[in-house]
Amino acid sequence: MRLDGKVAVITGGAGGIGRAAGARFIAEGADVLLVDVSQAALDEAATSIGSNRVATCLADVTKPEDNRRMVAEATERFGGVDIFLANAGIEGRVKPIVDQEVEMFDRVMAVNVRGVWLGLKYVIPAMQARGGGSIVITSSVAGVGGAAGFSPYVTSKHAVIGMMRSAALECAPINIRVNTVNPSPVETRMMRSLEAGLAPSAPEQAKALMMSRIPLGRYGTPDDIAKVMLFLASDDSAFLTGGVYMADGGMTTS
Ligand SMILES: NC(=O)c1ccc[n+]([C@@H]2O[C@H](COP(=O)([O-])OP(=O)(O)OC[C@H]3O[C@@H](n4cnc5c(N)ncnc54)[C@H](O)[C@@H]3O)[C@@H](O)[C@H]2O)c1
Repeated sequence: MRLDGKVAVITGGAGGIGRAAGARFIAEGADVLLVDVSQAALDEAATSIGSNRVATCLADVTKPEDNRRMVAEATERFGGVDIFLANAGIEGRVKPIVDQEVEMFDRVMAVNVRGVWLGLKYVIPAMQARGGGSIVITSSVAGVGGAAGFSPYVTSKHAVIGMMRSAALECAPINIRVNTVNPSPVETRMMRSLEAGLAPSAPEQAKALMMSRIPLGRYGTPDDIAKVMLFLASDDSAFLTGGVYMADGGMTTS
């Protein structure tokens, strides 16, 4: 039980990766607050995990008051926050920069960057009150390299690496570690959306092309990523902070 007695808050907790991380964390003894924008999706995620140690919180990470309430609910329900998985994210639309809507750029930055920063702002004091903790931010292979057609998303996933490095330096003296996990394509709703954006009439061809760029020859599963998140959340990674952890089947090695 690597997370026995720990409380974890997971944003994007009703989505593919967030839900898998929730299940892993519960299995290792944690109490888990799943945070997302749809109560129906949260209920479904909580039911699929099937534990009385999971709770849900309807909140929009782009709003300061929602982040404050998320921390308050974790504290009221479970006594505090020890692990924060800043994982909520949106992909935007696949278009060259000149054709991107300004509003979509702003929206992607609001969820993927401002949302993570707001989470840190309100979670860090709560974690400090518990004597420390671990923060894991979901970046992407798009956080370490460019991709034509994905400029808002790529910008946002690079940005959270800089944010993580600053937070790691600020938080080391208060015993809070901060790292990113950077997945390659993972089998979730998000990849179906991106495949359809890349090749509307033949999304399976977009998937085949993407897979051909992954040395291990497949997309990740949500649980592949959840296992890395568990490692970074747990004391097994007690000496790790400020790091970028690729979970990418080798995609960024060449
Ligand atoms: N699926 C992939 O291939 C992949 C690869 C690399 C990184 N990622 C990242 O992993 C994270 C999880 O993605 P996923 O694949 O599980 O996709 P997903 O779409 O299944 O999950 C994302 C979740 O975030 C939630 N969300 C969106 N806006 C929100 C907001 N304003 N407030 C709170 N919640 C909000 C969504 O409702 C959804 O449940 C994202 O940050 C994504 O960018 C995914």
